[in-house]
Amino acid sequence: MFHYLDGQLHAERVRLSEIAGAAGTPVYVYSSAVFASRFREFTEGLAGIDHLICYAMKANSNQAILRLLLGLGSGFDAVSAGEIERAAAAGAPGGRIVFSGVGKTGTELRQALDTGVRHFNVESEPELAMLSEIAASSGRVAPVAIRVNPDIDAGTHHKISTGKAENKFGVPVSRVREVYRQAAQLPGLRIVGLDMHIGSQITALAPFEAAFRRAAELVAQLRADGHRITRLDVGGGLGISYGDSDAQLPDAGQYCRLLQRTLAHLECEIEIEPGRYIAGPGGVLLTTVLYAKQGEGRRFLIVDAAMNDLHRTAIYGAWHDIQPLRQPRTDADPEEVDIVGPVCESSDTFARGRAMPPTQAGQLLAIRSAGAYGAVMASEYNTRALVPEVLVQDDRFAVVRSRPSIADIIARDIMPDWL
Ligand code: LLP
Repeated sequence: MFHYLDGQLHAERVRLSEIAGAAGTPVYVYSSAVFASRFREFTEGLAGIDHLICYAMKANSNQAILRLLLGLGSGFDAVSAGEIERAAAAGAPGGRIVFSGVGKTGTELRQALDTGVRHFNVESEPELAMLSEIAASSGRVAPVAIRVNPDIDAGTHHKISTGKAENKFGVPVSRVREVYRQAAQLPGLRIVGLDMHIGSQITALAPFEAAFRRAAELVAQLRADGHRITRLDVGGGLGISYGDSDAQLPDAGQYCRLLQRTLAHLECEIEIEPGRYIAGPGGVLLTTVLYAKQGEGRRFLIVDAAMNDLHRTAIYGAWHDIQPLRQPRTDADPEEVDIVGPVCESSDTFARGRAMPPTQAGQLLAIRSAGAYGAVMASEYNTRALVPEVLVQDDRFAVVRSRPSIADIIARDIMPDWL
């Protein structure tokens, strides 16, 4: 629900320039309506089968977002004790939180047992042994699903592909049955399901289909081995359009139909962990053009947002659509520009050779599809304050994370007594 109205880009019924004026730039702005409608695509698609949508909170874990999704019936996929605590602070009961992650510490496992998470997605034999010891020694029983690495190429960027045998995630398919056998014998564990996740920003259904079919086979095998598999967590990964191609991407409805077709017969409770699909389109990063500078054969728009605020282009070469807040005239000839931040490295670039309507210093731009893996990955590089976040609902907005003061940032350093 980001759209031009009366010549100005709006989030729902709020003018984005009004938010920029009130909160300053750079600032992330989220549309409640987008989050809610993207979430509902999954609920509608999975109607008729027993399921829980465990929103991957790593994509955007602002508590206001968690509270919004919680109200729509969401569960959460957490990957650290910090995320579990955050979900709980937003009001999520333990029974709606699954705990994933390839390197959970003993302290985190203990904390998750205290919270009473829905289940642990265990990624290795040593983790299984550690969880068993911790649970048994405190007289508790940990509900467990084991994450299988199905050795399927998700066809996505190599930095966010997780389901190939060469990736660090999960237990190899060839060893899964053996690991379940061990799990069944260890004290303090109760097997409840099977888990997988093959990668992120997956833009075709074929890798999902291959993974779901493999999961269905495995569930059948594990049941034949005598295990009670009542939950199947198929992870997240459904990709979104960033506006860089006209290709028709599969939507949540198609994804859910595939899921119904390949998995409904198992009569498991199906869990999915979408992050980007729900959060990505729901956010923009607003930035001000500081300078327009003519380089040697290139025109640069230097903006006040930087790679530390939105890392995706610097890390993955990701393409994000960028729009002026003031609607450009339709007859304006576009100019080719590089849109860059103020940080002292060339990777601090949001767009290269991008066709933009003529843009001057002082104008405001919106970097689109920045609701997922934006604010959560921000850092304070160059002693730049973490970007604030604003949530819009209909005609109102609220700052849901404030911009820290530089004094607060500096005050975290501790001077040793010998200096
Ligand atoms: N479940 C697990 C176990 C995951 O590791 C992830 C993402 C998800 C679910 C959610 O995947 P999604 O539905 O959002 O694709 N920073 C990168 C993305 C990293 C994804 C990591 N795992 C980016 O900006 O593209």
